[in-house]
Amino acid sequence: MRKKIVAGNWKMNLNRKAAFQLIETIDSLKFSNNVEVIIAPPSIYLESFLGKVKNFNISSQDVSANDNGAYTGEFSAAMLSSLSLKYSIVGHSERRLYHGETEEMIFNKAKQLLKSNMSPIYCCGELLEDRKSENHFKVVASQLQPLLDNLNSDELEKFIIAYEPVWAIGTGLTAKPSDAQDMHSYIRALIKEKFSSSIADQISIIYGGSCKPDNAKELFSMEDVDGGLIGGASLDADSFSAIINSF
Ligand code: PGA
Repeated sequence: MRKKIVAGNWKMNLNRKAAFQLIETIDSLKFSNNVEVIIAPPSIYLESFLGKVKNFNISSQDVSANDNGAYTGEFSAAMLSSLSLKYSIVGHSERRLYHGETEEMIFNKAKQLLKSNMSPIYCCGELLEDRKSENHFKVVASQLQPLLDNLNSDELEKFIIAYEPVWAIGTGLTAKPSDAQDMHSYIRALIKEKFSSSIADQISIIYGGSCKPDNAKELFSMEDVDGGLIGGASLDADSFSAIINSF
């Protein structure tokens, strides 16, 4: 059975007081046992949240592609792992667009996480023009190619894949559940072809892009959609818990 996962990506939101209030509220909520909940706060709060929460995991929003050294402002996978963090998002479209992250850098970040025994939440997803020109499958396949070509199955098993069509992120435009399903099953087929059905069946593929309480149930009911990566709606405890309870 694949893990069902709802991960909240707070991005660069919430001052210290609001962040602590939200984390305490979410930690006091009751979630269904079979959903793994993850929250990725701004990195400045990571360490202080770690000792506080009982009911979910904390993730980083990013990690350096390098081991250590003269990389001002960055932090390494080894540092995250020394805090006992299990997860980091990599390859979010905002990092690709605003920080010029390339496929190679993103893959190197994932490799750093593996080296520190952490799990990458690996984002992929097409731009609006890719979908309009019907190149969306091709684009997502090329984003996943480094994983398919260079990892062994033990490494790939550690991944959570997040399909996030860029045109749906923060726009209120959600992918149709059937379109999300088509892409998720395509991703699973790529993994099956390169590895095996048992590996493909095991990897959680979550959807992100304007996932809200009113569309989560339908999205999560799709066979290959194993949960969500939630931006805006994860900043409100009621919305986030409604999404978690949408399975
Ligand atoms: P959104 O963001 O839910 O606000 O669209 C999703 C994401 O960027 O992970």
